[in-house]
Amino acid sequence: MKYIIANWKAHMNPQTTEEWIETFLSSLNTDTNLSKFIHSGDRSVIVCPPYPFLLSLKKIVNNTSIYCGSQDLSQFEEGSYTGDVTAKSLSGLVSYSIIGHSERRHFYKETDEMIATKTELAAKNAIKTIVCIRGTSDQIPEKADIIAYEPVEAIGSGRNESVEDVIKMKKHLAGLNNKPFIYGGSVTPENVAEYLNAAEIDGVLVGTASLDPQSFAKIVSA
Ligand code: PGA
Repeated sequence: MKYIIANWKAHMNPQTTEEWIETFLSSLNTDTNLSKFIHSGDRSVIVCPPYPFLLSLKKIVNNTSIYCGSQDLSQFEEGSYTGDVTAKSLSGLVSYSIIGHSERRHFYKETDEMIATKTELAAKNAIKTIVCIRGTSDQIPEKADIIAYEPVEAIGSGRNESVEDVIKMKKHLAGLNNKPFIYGGSVTPENVAEYLNAAEIDGVLVGTASLDPQSFAKIVSA
């Protein structure tokens, strides 16, 4: 199974979201091999838009094997936390959540402890977690479902890390056990096959290239 995950970050609006979904699905539909892929369980496609667009995405992809994910969730269970979106609120709406992205660790000072708490809250609410780590210094929470290795220098820079270096990193990670291990950082339609062809790498997390529905469709079908 290969996971192909779109992380839209803080982009898009209601209209561009609708256009994205339409173009993405029609790009998929024109490729019959691809629908075979997706429905055979060989590939899991997870799209993570900003919170406000989850519902419209969910309504459209409901009967497909494309899953909705959030880009984060609250470290609190419920209560007076203005602006937060909890795992409880997201339960039933998303199948996955990205946790501990390096941008959240950097801009919002998220710690390994907060990330572990979020992972537990997600598990309690039947949300699978895609926990991002920057390298060996970030802890892998016991409850994490998928581990995304994203070296900071590779994110949004056009300097994707080589498959060999990604595999080397995998060997050094403590606590990975048998969790699926994916790579993120400047993945494009041009380089994605190198990662997907490696038996040691279980998929990719895609930022910039996922904003263009046609290029994301190419990544999914690579
Ligand atoms: P990028 O982002 O594909 O734009 O490098 C990846 C990520 O930050 O998840």
